[in-house]
Amino acid sequence: TAAPDLAGRHVVISAGGTREPLDPVRYLGNRSSGKQGYALARTAVARGARVTLVEANTGLPDPSGADVVRAGTATQLREAVLKAARDADVVVMAAAVADFRPAEYATGKIKKKDGQEPAPIALVRNPDILAEVSAERATPGQIVVGFAAETDDVLANGRQKLRRKGCDLLVVNEVGERKTFGSEENEAVVLGADGTETPVPYGPKEALADTVWDLVAARLG
Ligand code: C5P
Repeated sequence: TAAPDLAGRHVVISAGGTREPLDPVRYLGNRSSGKQGYALARTAVARGARVTLVEANTGLPDPSGADVVRAGTATQLREAVLKAARDADVVVMAAAVADFRPAEYATGKIKKKDGQEPAPIALVRNPDILAEVSAERATPGQIVVGFAAETDDVLANGRQKLRRKGCDLLVVNEVGERKTFGSEENEAVVLGADGTETPVPYGPKEALADTVWDLVAARLG
């Protein structure tokens, strides 16, 4: 059993991927499985934390010992995370949040019409939840952790993103064949706002989760 170094702490974790509806049967979505967020939830429970898991479209069974809140869209995820963050010691944004959503929702199924070009889909920006939580810091000393999947210039882009978002830790992983989306394994570098760089070798998502909690525990007062 793990050391209960998160005992008495409330940690909020978002997991999965948001879906932005176009009409009653269609949505814009992404390939996030939610497995890394669930690994974070399981390991945080094992280390004694009270865990609120805000889940978006994962279809995974609830991890035992965590309070699970369901959110479908970025707007719903934002509401749920901000609410849970009010008394949280730690917020980890592992969910893949859609950057954009359709500007309009069609209440009836969009139909194709013979001989007509498809209509373009207009998008509007979603709020950046990680940046908002980082700027607000609902409790003193609250630690905020983000994730970033990059395909190139991983570390340089990660450093820039860490500054832009204003979080304490950013877990940067390279999107690749066997890694990250849907996989049981992950490989990452955890960047700290204090300039630290912690490489996490290819391995189970639980191992990456435990490294995140080690770094978080060291930063909690
Ligand atoms: O900017 P990018 O989407 O790469 O950033 C990823 C990080 O930001 C993740 O931690 C994700 O949960 C968070 N995010 C967010 N709100 C958004 C977009 C991303 O909180 N609208």
